[in-house]
Order: sequence, then C-alpha cells, then structure tokens
Amino acid sequence: MIRCLLFVSLLIHSSLAAKPPNERQKAAPQAQGPPSKKWQTLTGQQPLVIARGGLSGLFPEASTYANNMAKTLSLQGSAFFCNLQLTKDSVGICLSNILLDNTTTISMFYPKGQKTYNVNGKDIRGWFALDFTADQVLNNVSLTQNIYSRPSQFDGILPIATVEDALGAKPDKFWLNVPYDAFYNEHKISMASFVEKAAKFAPIPYISSPEIGFLKAIGGKVNKMRTKLIFQFLDPEETEPTTKQKYSALVKQLGMINHDTRE
Ligand SMILES: *[C@@H]1O[C@H](CO)[C@@H](O)[C@H](O)[C@H]1NC(C)=O
Ligand SMILES: *[C@@H]1O[C@H](CO)[C@@H](O)[C@H](O)[C@H]1NC(C)=O
Repeated sequence: MIRCLLFVSLLIHSSLAAKPPNERQKAAPQAQGPPSKKWQTLTGQQPLVIARGGLSGLFPEASTYANNMAKTLSLQGSAFFCNLQLTKDSVGICLSNILLDNTTTISMFYPKGQKTYNVNGKDIRGWFALDFTADQVLNNVSLTQNIYSRPSQFDGILPIATVEDALGAKPDKFWLNVPYDAFYNEHKISMASFVEKAAKFAPIPYISSPEIGFLKAIGGKVNKMRTKLIFQFLDPEETEPTTKQKYSALVKQLGMINHDTRE
C-alpha cells in the first residue's frame, strides 16, 4: 500500500514537473508536498520576496504606479510592504518617513505646516501626517522620491496612497509596518484601532513594529492563525519606547520578547 502511494506521488510529481513553472506553482501550493526546490532558508521554503512600497526604485515609494508595477512584475506570492502613518482623522497612508516633507510636496502647499515634535525622546522638525486631514494630504499633495539617486521623473505627479489604495492593487500578501505607535498615542491617534479595522477589511499576513507596546496591543485583536506579528529591531543604540531599553539590550532577551508578544 505504501509503495503504491509512493508511486502515485512520484507520478504526480513528475507530471507536475513537466509543466511550465507558473502552472506548477498553482497546482502545488507551498503547504502541500515537498518543495520542488530546496532553498537555503531556515525552513528550506522559498524566501518571501518583499516589495517595499512597490517598484520604488523607479516610481516614488508606495505610489499607485509603484504598487501596480510590482504586482505585474514580481514573483507569485510576494508581499507589498507599507509603512503606516496616520492622518489627523485616522486615515492610514503608506509613507516611509514620519516627515511628510521627506517623501511629498507638502511644503509647497502648506508652507506654514512645519512643527517640532518630540518623537521617542528626540525633537524632530518638519511636516507630520497627524497635523493634516486626509482631505488635505490626498487632494493636493503628491509623492516624491526621497533617495536622490533614484529617478525624479515621476516626482510631484502621483498622489499619496492610502492603505486601502495599496490593498486595491491586490497584492498576493500584504505587510504592514507600524512605527511610532507611542508617538501617535500621545496625540490621541490609535494605530492599533486602525490596524484592527484594516485587518477585518482584508487579510494582513504580516504586521511588524519596532514597538513592543503596539505588538502587545494588537496581539489580542488579530487572528494569529492568519497574521504573523514581527518585532523589528532598530539601530542598537536607539531606545525601544515601551520598555525604554536599547535594542542592543533587547536583542539579548529574545525569549522575553517572544513570550510578551504572544500574549
Ligand atoms: C529623507 O530622509 C532620509 C533619512 O533620514 C535621508 O537620507 C534623505 O536624504 C531624506 N530625503 C529628503 C528628500 O529629504
Ligand atoms: C487643494 O485642492 C483644493 C481642491 O481639491 C483646492 O480648492 C485648494 O485651493 C487646494 N489648496 C492649495 C493650497 O493648493
């Protein structure tokens, strides 16, 4: 009986192998059967390809063009990475930097919108999403590249994308990164309630944050079978806002972090 099964499985395997790679992927989802190729990852599974803000080398990060192009060109099963910021009225937008002037034309439209805030112990000056409503940032302001070596041809053309826009590009997987939870909380804007709502609206397989407080808050609110929570280590000398410990100290207490975030 076992031999017979083995033979059948071999047959299936060889007939799958004969098909072109795309069809083979569809026919044999990762969870079943042995992976057709052994990867040098911890599990031997195919590594996750993550498009940070879409095809951001060409188009401004997280723009609709960047997202659509990433969807068209990337491997099946790859993830879109969105770095979350919230507007004054709690609309989630994807922007890599907490300062809007780093990635958008906001300073042209609201020249007096600059402010200084204490963000996790450091004073930062610039334009902050939490000072503007979604209407203000979505209607007039557009995206720019924030890395000067990247082409600027698409600067000032494409609007800021909301989390909903990014999900609308139908990524195979979505990765939401949530920095600055403590800072937004101080200003009475809740990342956790936004993320909780977003996770009900669409599956979010990966949620990451460099803040333990956020991971604890969201831990009880998302379905852990569907969503992996990931702790992001920042620079070793930076201080984690919840524990007020340096990331270099936290990295030596991995057991504690794992335990804490699981509860
Ligand atoms: C945006 O911020 C990054 C990181 O701080 C910096 O390297 C870059 O020069 C900034 N770009 C712009 C256009 O301000
Ligand atoms: C922003 O756009 C609206 C229309 O969407 C317009 O009425 C308003 O004048 C614009 N604001 C600026 C500062 O350009």
